[in-house]
Amino acid sequence: MAKKVRQRWGSRFGIIMAVAGSAIGLGNFLRFPVQAANNGGGAFMIPYFISLFLLGIPLMWIEWTLGRYGGGFEHGTAPGIFHSLWQKNRFIKYFGIIGIFGPLVIFIYYTYIESWTLAYCFFSFTDRYAAANDQASMQSFLQGYQGIEKNKYFTNIGPAYTFFLITFLANISVMYYGIRGGVERICKIAMPALLVFGLVIMVRVLLLGTPDPSKPDWNLVNGLGFLWNPDFSALKSAKVWLAAAGQIFFTLSVGIGVILTYASYLKKGDDVVLSGLSAVSTNEFTEVILGASIIIPAAFVFFGPIGIQEVAKSGAFNLSFVTMPLIFKKILFGHLFGGMWFLLLFLAGVTSSISLIQPTIAFMEDEFNINRSKAVTIFAIAAFIFCQPVIFFIARGVINELDFWGGTFCLVLFATVETILFAWIFGMEKAWKEIHHGADMKVPTVYKFIIKYITPVFLLTILGFWFYQEGIPTIMLKGVSAADKPFVLGTRIALLGLFSLLAILVKIAWRKRKIKTYV
Ligand code: ALA
Repeated sequence: MAKKVRQRWGSRFGIIMAVAGSAIGLGNFLRFPVQAANNGGGAFMIPYFISLFLLGIPLMWIEWTLGRYGGGFEHGTAPGIFHSLWQKNRFIKYFGIIGIFGPLVIFIYYTYIESWTLAYCFFSFTDRYAAANDQASMQSFLQGYQGIEKNKYFTNIGPAYTFFLITFLANISVMYYGIRGGVERICKIAMPALLVFGLVIMVRVLLLGTPDPSKPDWNLVNGLGFLWNPDFSALKSAKVWLAAAGQIFFTLSVGIGVILTYASYLKKGDDVVLSGLSAVSTNEFTEVILGASIIIPAAFVFFGPIGIQEVAKSGAFNLSFVTMPLIFKKILFGHLFGGMWFLLLFLAGVTSSISLIQPTIAFMEDEFNINRSKAVTIFAIAAFIFCQPVIFFIARGVINELDFWGGTFCLVLFATVETILFAWIFGMEKAWKEIHHGADMKVPTVYKFIIKYITPVFLLTILGFWFYQEGIPTIMLKGVSAADKPFVLGTRIALLGLFSLLAILVKIAWRKRKIKTYV
């Protein structure tokens, strides 16, 4: 079969929107405010911005550069990109598997959660949760929807499954149209729409003032103060620093493998410095300005200083699917604002989840010469099967287990490997030249030092601390109930099987192929 020509982005705006789309997700609107509120408020922004400048921005530049470089060898995923960087090493390509495995694992649970946002958008517009008027009944509504309990709201998982199918098919359909006709086209529409929705909802929240005059302290200024007043004593805790670094990884989508793949569709002379920075800035605006100004201040004015503590501690899911619907019920035209909020989350989710699919597709196209529609069909069948345990065993800890391996461990490990490869094996001088190829701005020289020394040391420290604090207890199944253990172990075995399968595929691909040359 003749070798296909690799796809390309249609425009610079298109790739920036696609990368920003991958970065801006549920993490910006739900995870960030909860992390900040629970980890020192305004003081959290100190480790947050340190992590942004020492980890997030360097990793963004590294991944854009590595992706573009690998694309020159017709490799769009980490096995091939790592091998192109270190051709003499036979094993490095196997480390690259993490860059396909991680996104695939995240996709498996992320898409299901994304489908809840579509469902709640529909429920809000149609007033489907009209009868649920307090935290307990909204919680039952959610559990009924998820099939965890049968109640007056839902007697089976049918509606959840229907919304999952719609979301899954929407994701897959975009991929059939490829990078330019699918991903780029959808992100160019969805991202501006998302920003407009975010601004409208933010303004609505900022106009809330003091909704209950009998409780003058429950006002917007105190709500913003709850999030932003700094508690500097929090900075003494390693946990807060880990949380900040973790948030930077999660929100920027670095260390996953998706940016490598997206950047592999750039041309050799395309700028990566300014484009990468633009994607980071768009993400940070959405997170720190929009994300911080919506849920926490809104929850504060309706639930007060005591209630908000419980709300913030109850986690991002409860906040989004229990507290937020209640808040919108108390606002004039609330079902419209609520619908807009969940549509915003859905758009943020879909532009992230499509990016999680592309590495697997690129792997099949680049390394096995499988055409796009066949690759998308293979992905759809495999991912659909893997999604089933997430849907049916949701109460059994399956999502947590997938998030631990795919969404946390793999990210930090992958980022560490790629940084060392880039700065030390490829070499900082060559790396610096490669970053600046076609660049529209110069990276401040201090970043040469940061990328070579600070970022890898920071990453190794996080990896060590995190492994000790969270990794070991999770691996030892600490806190997992006896009833959940078989499900968690089953998930682990399935993940091991998936990783081994990818390793075998890499071996087969490399046996068949000739060494690719830079084109
Ligand atoms: N970066 C994506 C998010 O924030 C995964 O949700």
